[in-house]
Amino acid sequence: MPTVLLLGATSDMAVAIARKMAAKGFSIQLAGRNASRLQPLQSDITVRFNVSASVHEFDAVDFNSHNSFFNSLPIKPDITICVFGYMSDNEVARTNWSEAERTISSNFTGAVSILNIVANHYAQQKAGVIVGISSVAGERGRQSNYIYGSAKAGFSAYLSGLRNRLFREGVHVLTVKPGFVYTKMTEDLKLPALLTAQPDQVADAVYQGIINKKNSIYVKWFWRWIMLIIKTIPEFMFKKMKL
Ligand SMILES: NC(=O)c1ccc[n+]([C@@H]2O[C@H](COP(=O)([O-])OP(=O)(O)OC[C@H]3O[C@@H](n4cnc5c(N)ncnc54)[C@H](OP(=O)(O)O)[C@@H]3O)[C@@H](O)[C@H]2O)c1
Repeated sequence: MPTVLLLGATSDMAVAIARKMAAKGFSIQLAGRNASRLQPLQSDITVRFNVSASVHEFDAVDFNSHNSFFNSLPIKPDITICVFGYMSDNEVARTNWSEAERTISSNFTGAVSILNIVANHYAQQKAGVIVGISSVAGERGRQSNYIYGSAKAGFSAYLSGLRNRLFREGVHVLTVKPGFVYTKMTEDLKLPALLTAQPDQVADAVYQGIINKKNSIYVKWFWRWIMLIIKTIPEFMFKKMKL
């Protein structure tokens, strides 16, 4: 059975995606920066879904370790899902460089570093699937969230370029823009219930996106239209808005 690698596997979305893919019979590789925290999930997946699950130490911002991390995987994954990310408080990141730098490296540079390695492997074997969890925040910079948003914009552009490069090699690249999701990342925010998805809905959308070879998906359909409206507001008006 094919193997799925989850990068940032302690994330609430990754947990839901891991369970969904295991339920469909995939073997699961859980990678995170504290492997011991992943062991309960590993046991749960193995027992509940009767598939193989393994745990691997992975830090997205330890760029120099990424080659040895990928080389050390006992089985190379057929599908790699890049879930890790970090959302800073924009006001803090405006004045505190280490917070801005962490936001950029956790959402963009780290993803480029590991996915370059995965992409080269998939290009060589002429098969594979790369999924990136990006964000609608990357579609237009807003005053409340532009440091995180610009890192996600970079990540979306990277995935788009990767898709263009790898299409002829038979490699599928899927960009996921979840909209708001109830997870640890957003637990302090007051999110509008109607616009907010559960991690299980993200997992369903990711699975369907892989099966149907989609290029880019929103988890809840109306985000496509919300973002279309936001993107078409003329800049002379947009810059005056409190967003
Ligand atoms: N929640 C939303 O509304 C929303 C919307 C759009 C996009 N997203 C994106 O969805 C993805 C998953 O986020 P989530 O909502 O599920 O939040 P989450 O539960 O807070 O997950 C974030 C994950 O990123 C991991 N991570 C951060 N820095 C890392 C590093 N240097 N190395 C390895 N792992 C690292 C965290 O690991 P630790 O457990 O070790 O901290 C955590 O597992 C993120 O990319 C996020 O930007 C979220």
